[in-house]
Amino acid sequence: REQEIKRQFEALEHSNRYFQDMLRSSSERERAIGYLKQRGLSGQIAAAFGIGYAPPGWDNLLQHFAHLENAAPLLEQSGMVIHNEDKQRYYDRFRDRIMFPIRDVRGRVLGFGGRVLGDDKPKYLNSPETPTFHKGRELYGLYEARKHSNQLERLLIVEGYMDVVSLAQHGIHWSVATLGTATTAQHLERLFKLVPEVIFCFDGDAAGRQAAQRALGVTLPVIRDGQEARFLFLPDGEDPDTLVRREGETAFSQRVSQALPLSEFFFRQLSDEADLSSMDGRARFSNQALPLIQSMQPSLLKQMMLDRICEITGLSLEQISSVIDLHQATST
Ligand code: UTP
Ligand code: MN
Ligand code: MN
Ligand code: MN
Ligand code: MN
Repeated sequence: REQEIKRQFEALEHSNRYFQDMLRSSSERERAIGYLKQRGLSGQIAAAFGIGYAPPGWDNLLQHFAHLENAAPLLEQSGMVIHNEDKQRYYDRFRDRIMFPIRDVRGRVLGFGGRVLGDDKPKYLNSPETPTFHKGRELYGLYEARKHSNQLERLLIVEGYMDVVSLAQHGIHWSVATLGTATTAQHLERLFKLVPEVIFCFDGDAAGRQAAQRALGVTLPVIRDGQEARFLFLPDGEDPDTLVRREGETAFSQRVSQALPLSEFFFRQLSDEADLSSMDGRARFSNQALPLIQSMQPSLLKQMMLDRICEITGLSLEQISSVIDLHQATST
């Protein structure tokens, strides 16, 4: 079993080397390199992130591994090839895609994200979950960020592979991306072990704003005194990649320093949804806010947020406690 896992890691590492070689030597290399250049990436940054290229065709990777015994089932377990049960045939999962290796904190390749060079769908294809690859736990770019600095002060959480790489291209080497999934408590607990501050920076669109709201709900039960979470909202239609390319590092960092503290986002969000000038609105507001505050660990921040609710509603803590048990920490 341990032997099997070791073989899978080797297969993934080997695949990664193959994709990087193909970026240099496949007959399609000019198209692939042209794509990366057009997206503003230098060879140096592409190399730092181990970016590669999977050429077109159904069995390039399979052929590359053909000398190995039982290569096809091994590659299937590693998520690199797909087994068509009807035709009893294996074929490469990633074809004609720019390949982003996803590494764990130790630098081992766990899987890949692969982007089409044009407008085909799906835009990104990701390795499937395997016994060694859990998307709810891993973060793209964390290995590279830690490699760049062993004294990280904060981390930016963004949506996409290209956001992480493009930010690094512009000197911001402290971002990570979730892998096409929502931010989980596990992600946050992991990040807070490394840095005292995380800043959520999702795309400036409806999906991004919804992701921020969801991230708020995930952060509240996790955050403790001494830790900070903030929210950076981007102009409509922008993502960290397009914005840092347009504005440059200084302007982007300026935005980061002005990101909303968690409590401000919290109150802004909820008071937008209720009319605080009416008693009914304030009750509605409290009924939405209190369960969220209830989910928090005991902390000064929690106390202050409760005080704020008291100010807004005119109720005392005792009056609120008579309706809601404020200290019942719920787990998510
Ligand atoms: P976006 O649609 O915002 O893409 O998806 P992007 O990262 O800005 O990509 P570019 O700039 O067009 O290259 C954000 C993230 O959601 C996941 C990927 O992780 C992507 O980076 N995603 C998106 C998928 O897994 N599959 C998709 O088809 C699209
Ligand atoms: Mn099979
Ligand atoms: Mn998006
Ligand atoms: Mn983008
Ligand atoms: Mn995007």
